[in-house]
Amino acid sequence: MTGEPIDLHGALATFEQLWSPRIVTQMNDYDIRVAKVAGEHVWHSHEHTDEFFLVLDGELSIALREADAERTVVLGKGSVFVVPRGVEHKPSAAGGASILMFEPTGTSTVGDRHDPVPGHVDATTGHTLG
Ligand code: NI
Repeated sequence: MTGEPIDLHGALATFEQLWSPRIVTQMNDYDIRVAKVAGEHVWHSHEHTDEFFLVLDGELSIALREADAERTVVLGKGSVFVVPRGVEHKPSAAGGASILMFEPTGTSTVGDRHDPVPGHVDATTGHTLG
C-alpha cells in the first residue's frame, strides 16, 4: 500500500499461483485483490458480504445456486458481476483468466461455508503483493 499508482498487469506479473489473490490496495475497509485463475474453484458462500468480480483478461464463469435453480454466468474481459451475499457460487475458468475482486478486508476466498477445499485452491484472506 503506497501513495503511488498500481499497474494491475505489473502486479499480476509478480506471481504465478492460481486461485491465490493478492491485495493490491484497500479502500475504507475493503480489499482490492487480483488473482490468476484456471480450472475450477470450490462451491462456497459468503454469509455477510456480496463479492464483486471484474475480469481483466480471459473469461470467467461463475456457477450460482439460487432459490430453486442453478445457472452459470459467463464474464468476458471487461465484464463485472456481483455475487449476492449468501448465494453459493463456484468460479471457474477453463482457459484461464485474470480477475479483480472487491470485498471487505478479512473475507475468505472459500467463504463461510464450502465444499471440501481441493489442493489447488488457496483458502486465504488475501496475500500482500511482492
Ligand atoms: Ni466467493
